[in-house]
Amino acid sequence: MRVHSSTLLLFGATGDLSRRMLLPSLYALYADGLIQPNLRIFGTARSPLTDDGFRDMARAALCEFLPEDRKAEGLIDAFLQRLHYVALDASNPDGFVELADTIGDISGGLSIFLSTAPSLFEATIKGLHNAGLSGENVRIGLEKPLGNDLASSCHINDAVNAVFPEKRTFRIDHYLGKETVQNLMALRFANMLFEPLWNANAIEHVQITVSETVGLEGRAGFYDDTGALRDMVQNHMLQLLALIAMEPPASLDATAIRDEKVKVLRALRPVVEGDVVTGKYAEGAVQGDAVQSYESDLGKASDTETFVAIKAYVDNWRWQGVPFFLRTGKRLPERRSEIVIQFKPVPHNVFRDRGGKLDANTLIIRLQPEEYVRLLVMAKEPGLDRGGVTLREVPLDLSLTAAFAGSRRRIAYERLLLDLIEGDQTLFVRRDEVEAQWTWIDAIRALWNATALKPKTYGAGSWGPNAAIALTERDGVSWHE
Ligand code: BG6
Repeated sequence: MRVHSSTLLLFGATGDLSRRMLLPSLYALYADGLIQPNLRIFGTARSPLTDDGFRDMARAALCEFLPEDRKAEGLIDAFLQRLHYVALDASNPDGFVELADTIGDISGGLSIFLSTAPSLFEATIKGLHNAGLSGENVRIGLEKPLGNDLASSCHINDAVNAVFPEKRTFRIDHYLGKETVQNLMALRFANMLFEPLWNANAIEHVQITVSETVGLEGRAGFYDDTGALRDMVQNHMLQLLALIAMEPPASLDATAIRDEKVKVLRALRPVVEGDVVTGKYAEGAVQGDAVQSYESDLGKASDTETFVAIKAYVDNWRWQGVPFFLRTGKRLPERRSEIVIQFKPVPHNVFRDRGGKLDANTLIIRLQPEEYVRLLVMAKEPGLDRGGVTLREVPLDLSLTAAFAGSRRRIAYERLLLDLIEGDQTLFVRRDEVEAQWTWIDAIRALWNATALKPKTYGAGSWGPNAAIALTERDGVSWHE
C-alpha cells in the first residue's frame, strides 16, 4: 500500500540538480495536483538563506528551467509558499537537532532526498538518525554516484542500511524515471509479438548507444575522477541492458522486477581484453561548432576516458552467444539514446532464384531525443517482376510522441520524486543490483590496469576512436548510425 509522506526534505537544495530538475519537477507535480497540496518541502544546504531567500532562488530556477506553457504566476506563488529552508553543515551534528526542531511533527511521514556529494552521505545519515529523523515512517532517496567502486559503494550502503533498511532506501537512476525506458517493459511484456523471438535463437546481436554532444558541463573535477565507464555504463546503460535482457517478471511488483534485473546483472560475463575500447576527445567540431579537446577543457593532461565501447555477454540460456555492444561518450556527433535489436536472417530465402536479396529484421527503440519504435521489415517493391523480384527494407514506424500527442511528457524526476513521496520502490535500484553492477565494472577497470590500457583519441564530433568500429566489425556488425 502506498503511504504518502506529508513532508519532503531536500539536501543539496541550492545545487544544480535541485535548480534544474528537482524544484521544477516538484512544481509540476504540485501544479497537476499530484502531490498533496499541503506537502511541506524543506530545503537544506550550507548557504545561509532565509525561507524567502530560498523561495527567490527557487522562483529564479522555475523561471529558467520550466517550459513556457508551465509558468503560471499564481500557481508558482502558491507552490513557493510550501518551501522552507534550513541552513545546515552536514559535518556539524548540532545542525541536525535544529533541523529536526524546525521540521517539527513528522508523524505524517517524511521523505528525504540526498542530492549532495556522496562523501557527505555518512555524516548526514548519522546526523539524521541522532536527531530522530530516521524512524519507521522516514524514507531516504539517494542520488548517484553511490561510490566509485564496489568497496566504496558497499561502504556507503552499509552506512545507509545501518539506519534505513532496504525497504526504506530509494537509490536513484534517473534513466528508470524516463517514460521511454519504462516503455521497454510495455513493449516486451504487453505484446505477444516480440517475446517469442526475444532470445538467442532469433536475435543476432543487440546494440545500446547513449551518445552525448556535451562535454564537461562545469563538472570537470567530478568527471575526470569518474570517466565514462563509471558515469554512464555502471548505472544507466546496465539498467537498459537489464531491462532488455531480463526474464518476464511475474508481476509489476518492485521485488519481482528487481529480482529479474539482478539475475541479468549477475550473469554478465567478465569482459576480456580486446572487447573494450576507450577514447578521449581531441579538438573537433560538434554539430558545426568548434570545440576544444578534453584535456584543454580540463586544463591538464589526463587518461580519463570520455568514450567507452564494450562487447558484453549475458551468460544464460536465453542470451547464450548474443553480443550486446554498448557505447557511450561525450562530444559525439549527436545526442541519442537508442537500443537496436538485430534479428537473424530468415533460415531460407525463397526469393533467391528470382534475385530477391533479404536484409535481416532490425528493431530500433529510440529513447531520446525522439521517442519511437521502428521495425525494419522486408517488402516487395511494386511492379510486375518480369526481371525478378525486388525486395526493399521499409520501416514499420511507431512514433510515441505522435501516438500520445495529447499527454504531457514528464521529466524523469517528476516520476521518481512522486514515487519516493508515495513509497513505490519499483523504479529505484536495489542494493544487490548496484553491487552486481560494480562487480562487473570493477573487473573491467582491473583489466585496464593490468593491460595498461589508455584511451585512444577521437576527434570531437566523430563516433569515437576507430577501434570502436573495429570492435563490432570483427563480428561482421556495423554500429547503427
Ligand atoms: C548523468 C551523467 O547521470 O547522466 C551525465 O552524470 C550525463 O554525465 C547524464 O550527461 C545524461 O542524462 P540524460 O538524461 O541527459 O541522458
